[in-house]
Amino acid sequence: MGDKITVPHIAKMKQRGEKISCLTAYDYSFARILDEAGVEMLLVGDSLGCVVQGSPNTLAVTLDEMIYHTRLVARARRRALVIGDMPFLSYQVSREQALQNAGRLVKEGGAEAVKLEGGVAMRGVIDAIVNIGIPVMGHVGLTPQSVNRFGGYKVQGRDQQCRENVLGDALAVEEAGAFAVVLEGMPLDLAREITERLTIPTIGIGAGAHCDGQVLVIHDMLGLFDDFTPKFVKRYADLKSTVANAVKEFIGEVKERKFPLEEHSFR
Ligand code: KIV
Repeated sequence: MGDKITVPHIAKMKQRGEKISCLTAYDYSFARILDEAGVEMLLVGDSLGCVVQGSPNTLAVTLDEMIYHTRLVARARRRALVIGDMPFLSYQVSREQALQNAGRLVKEGGAEAVKLEGGVAMRGVIDAIVNIGIPVMGHVGLTPQSVNRFGGYKVQGRDQQCRENVLGDALAVEEAGAFAVVLEGMPLDLAREITERLTIPTIGIGAGAHCDGQVLVIHDMLGLFDDFTPKFVKRYADLKSTVANAVKEFIGEVKERKFPLEEHSFR
């Protein structure tokens, strides 16, 4: 296992041209596997609203729920940088509330950094959180907490005006002091332009291959969640079938009295 990954380490990776890997995690067991496998960043994403809680979007996730899941992931951390996502309405109402809530993710959840969505409009909030010593990862483009404004999960930055807005958002996030920015759901040439213009690392999801790093939702890449599968997801495993087959085998063995055997029993 290499050195502990820190925020300055992530910055250096971009300078050295090393790609950065990031995956979401929501509990101890998965976080342990991902950390031991060598992923650099563990994002406790509010995507847990969909893949853990079964909601159609992320809007109902609460700060207390994010703190709870961040704590589970932080317990497993050995090397990776743990980032806690700020849920909808935990940072948009006032700067004071944003500071309190970012602080709770660090103090109670054990996060080493927080992530929040938005660019130009969030400049002041990012700056304030960074100024109390908490590293911030920005998130621009298709920001899922704005799903109702977008009218669905739609690729952002296809027309010239929207392209300029997304670029402006990314520049604002960097200017405000964020250490990295997620680029979600945008044409790959726009993500490339942003990646070339920013000095901080860009972490892409549905933003093509030119970003400095990539993030995926763990349930998507392992084939555990198939309520909907975005085009940008690559399935690296089919754990849904693996789990279903194991469960069917267990049920069959219970019914046929093949489990438990002597070796699974106490005397
Ligand atoms: O909530 C989340 O998991 C995210 C990533 C997909 C970037 O925001």
